[in-house]
Amino acid sequence: MKTRITELFGIQHPIIQGGMHFVGLAELAAAVSNAGALGIITGLTQKTPELLAREIARCRAMTDKPFGVNLTFLPTVTSPDYPGYIQAIVEGGVKIVETAGNNPQKWMPLLHEHGIKVIHKCTSVRHALKAEAIGCDAVSVDGFECGGHPGEDDVPNFILLPRAAEELKIPFVASGGMADGRSLVAALALGADGMNMGTRFMATQEAPIHEHVKQAIVAASELDTRLVMRPLRNTERVLNNAAVERLLQKEKELGSAIRFEDIIEQVAGVYPRIMQNGDLDAGAWSCGMVAGLIRDVPTVKVLVERMMAEAEGLIRQRLAGMLN
Ligand SMILES: Cc1cc2nc3c(=O)[nH]c(=O)nc-3n(C[C@H](O)[C@H](O)[C@H](O)COP(=O)(O)O)c2cc1C
Repeated sequence: MKTRITELFGIQHPIIQGGMHFVGLAELAAAVSNAGALGIITGLTQKTPELLAREIARCRAMTDKPFGVNLTFLPTVTSPDYPGYIQAIVEGGVKIVETAGNNPQKWMPLLHEHGIKVIHKCTSVRHALKAEAIGCDAVSVDGFECGGHPGEDDVPNFILLPRAAEELKIPFVASGGMADGRSLVAALALGADGMNMGTRFMATQEAPIHEHVKQAIVAASELDTRLVMRPLRNTERVLNNAAVERLLQKEKELGSAIRFEDIIEQVAGVYPRIMQNGDLDAGAWSCGMVAGLIRDVPTVKVLVERMMAEAEGLIRQRLAGMLN
């Protein structure tokens, strides 16, 4: 399948694995890239630029295909060493960066100077247009369904994607709620040039996370996610658990007086305990509604091949057949 996204990134299939904290390590990124899609290492999971450089080298040893690095620009006062991370990306020969969070404008000249293509993750048409205006090469449009941070507009992909298609000139991928070949064909029909998946790639053999996390995703239905941190305007879609229920109770009790410090125990630094130790109730962890469509833990290769075969079957048989 050839789309503007496969052309832009030099990949076989129009599928991207979005950056995921403590999930997007070299093993997963390499497996996704080896399957002909685009794997992405999550930059900030590596505590220092030196560790990111090492992770890039590990990934390079596992694949000769293109892969990218996610740089999430946090709204914190003391920011991570972004120039150092970018240097690690440049020196590691990585040519694709997925940016997310705050506007990446400040870093665009440096990235482009080194021939790096930038795909920015956005949850609204206005942010996507801004990304286009500042020179991003593509955008990833994340609907309200998505795992992680869906923004504050709550527009689901059935509306958001065609709206993005109406406004954007640069290529974009559909993100949030994408699970299989049906998702891909639907995303293409709505005007996207491919799809980005987070949660679906967690439930794969190669995802370097605890088996408990994968099984929790398989067991979850589309009703099992919750939105937390809405009162802080930092909404995150997570899988429900005991810690999330405590967090939501605090949000209810404290109302608009809530501060980040009030919920720090449930959200700060919990990812290693969940993803590595499998302590599912240690805190809130991102998960999309798409969990309701995930029923197995295949290898990445099987997953990608299955999606592409399903997409092709849908286009050639189901859709084309309707015209006869
Ligand atoms: C466990 C997890 C961690 C994530 N961490 C990040 C992150 O650090 N940076 C980022 O830009 N997006 C992050 N995301 C968002 C994903 O890259 C992707 O946009 C999202 O999962 C798409 O929605 P889906 O889960 O329905 O496929 C994360 C998602 C999950 C599920």
